[in-house]
Amino acid sequence: GLPERVTIWEVGPRDGLQNEKSTVPVAVKLEFLDRLAAAGLTTLEATSFVHPKWVPQLADAEELLAGLNRRDGVRYPVLVPNERGLDRALAAGVSHIAVFGSATETFAKRNLNSTLDDQFAMFEPVVTRARAAGLAVRGYLSMCFGDPWEGAVPPEQVVRVGKRLLELGCSELSLGDTIGVATAGQVERLLDTFTAQGVGVDALAVHFHDTYGQALTNTLAALRRGVSTVDSSAGGLGGCPYAESATGNLATEDLVWFLDGLGIEHGADLDALVAASAWMAEQLGRPSPSRVVRALAG
Ligand code: HMG
Ligand code: MG
Repeated sequence: GLPERVTIWEVGPRDGLQNEKSTVPVAVKLEFLDRLAAAGLTTLEATSFVHPKWVPQLADAEELLAGLNRRDGVRYPVLVPNERGLDRALAAGVSHIAVFGSATETFAKRNLNSTLDDQFAMFEPVVTRARAAGLAVRGYLSMCFGDPWEGAVPPEQVVRVGKRLLELGCSELSLGDTIGVATAGQVERLLDTFTAQGVGVDALAVHFHDTYGQALTNTLAALRRGVSTVDSSAGGLGGCPYAESATGNLATEDLVWFLDGLGIEHGADLDALVAASAWMAEQLGRPSPSRVVRALAG
């Protein structure tokens, strides 16, 4: 059966804006975040404490956190790759972080300047120190279905790497289709491989990019396997600067329309979300790629 309730993990302000050609002013980012919170989203991935030369779009992470209107009942996780990033995040007063690993060797190099093995040495002190400080820690795993340099990624490899992230102390693992090539059968196979290897779906989230228009179909496949945390991006913003073929994430509005149709609870207000994304599209100077935003925005 399907879950009764889905947790929407909103990544637009981070995964979306990290990929914008022009740098979005911090005041616009803050208003976007606050509009999304007002629309009922309760998990807003706010920014990343990564190297500012690697992701200049998010170089304002300190300023953003300092200006954030933290609403009750809303969590604002941030991405942290290493101890330097953790120091910055702790100084900014965050209470929830995410480390982000790669299921493939090539992307570990391109995204983290690391190797598949060395990324764990980088994350280990981050997770240990973050947990000792009382922070919640999510683990992301990229290239779970296909990699632009290595091609198809075997499920056994994804599960092996993903289990290592959970064993470090991540409380949740988000399975990333970084370049949006997955299809529903692959999603079922990967989730079944995790289950067979002793990882329950309660520990798993899904993170689909919509390059090939399969993100919602893939989401349905994951929900049918019992996954109940879904990452999405308001207005379908997004991509990854270190994975050229990636486009935006599953749009939050598309997800909400779909969940409403199934009678699955999520807590968000679709009209308010559409208004927030239409406003953001105006700030960015181009229309939202979300079909639902385009259908509903006046
Ligand atoms: P590096 O160049 O190997 O870093 O980058 P390093 O450890 O050699 O350090 C070099 C210098 O950078 C040092 O300064 C450090 O202090 C500084 P120096 O001593 O030379 O003056 N430095 C930092 N400064 C600020 N903040 C930091 C930091 N770390 C080091 N955190 C590094 C390694 C991991 C830092 C780099 O590769 C990086 O920042 N990568 C981030 C890439 C990224 O953000 N990608 C997008 C997010 S992942 C994604 O989008 C996928 C996801 O959505 C899921 C999916 O779709 O699959 C999550
Ligand atoms: Mg992503």
